Amino acid sequence: MTQQEIATKLKAAGIENAAWEARLLCEHFSGESLAKAVKRRVEHYPLQYILGEWYFYRECYEVSEDCLIPRSDTEILVDTAIKLLPRNARFLDLCTGSGCVAISTLANRTDTTATGIDLFQKTLALAERNAGKNGVSTRIDFLCHDVLTPPPATLGKGQFDAILSNPPYIKNDIVPTLQREVGFEPTAALMGGFDGLDFYRAILEQWCVLLKPQGILIFEIGYDQGKDLGDLAAAHGFSSTVKKDFGGNDRVVILQK
Ligand SMILES: C[S@@+](CC[C@H](N)C(=O)[O-])C[C@H]1O[C@@H](n2cnc3c(N)ncnc32)[C@H](O)[C@@H]1O
Repeated sequence: MTQQEIATKLKAAGIENAAWEARLLCEHFSGESLAKAVKRRVEHYPLQYILGEWYFYRECYEVSEDCLIPRSDTEILVDTAIKLLPRNARFLDLCTGSGCVAISTLANRTDTTATGIDLFQKTLALAERNAGKNGVSTRIDFLCHDVLTPPPATLGKGQFDAILSNPPYIKNDIVPTLQREVGFEPTAALMGGFDGLDFYRAILEQWCVLLKPQGILIFEIGYDQGKDLGDLAAAHGFSSTVKKDFGGNDRVVILQK
């Protein structure tokens, strides 16, 4: 199969950037493995899972069905953290997934250290490999824990300068209506509860005890959640600042006392 034939097949299957994807597939695979990769992509299996790696911020990440695919919108959260974290900050990355938020922050702020938390051991194993791949293993540890429950006592109290999180924030009933590709990603990485706010509530109610007095929270949020987060933050004594993404939608919220 030539690159052009692949592009034509992908286009016919409704893949948007067919020519670009055909080129990437040809660069990564040949012969039988290329034919297999094209077949998977025609079924709308995500390109990133087929390639097994994806670029996020300035780093490269191993990706598989064990993690959400890092999104470019999430780079705004990383950018914000890189700018706002105080010198020598110790921060938490709740719902770490591939580890991309913590790892890209660490890679670009070499004075900082982090703890990444996720519910799934398999996901954490992948995040650990990503920390190694990007040279930050000595500055991050990982913990398997349910963020919807109180934090483990081992984390102490008042020890962290910031909590970063891109948690599941999609309303449960919206999840089945998303793009076909998203159906191959872990459902647990998407479902934010009835109104999409379960994780923000849990973090504000139960995890803020881990913050130092001047500690900050930086969350990624859904395009329509800026006001809800502002109200939730105010109820917990935080002021909030919303940052927009390149499409002009609310994307990141910074909470400070
Ligand atoms: C939206 S993904 C974000 C992943 C990564 N931080 C990123 O930005 O690409 C949410 C992550 O939360 C994890 N997760 C889901 N439920 C959880 C829970 N109750 N406690 C801890 N982590 C959870 C999922 O495994 C998934 O890795």
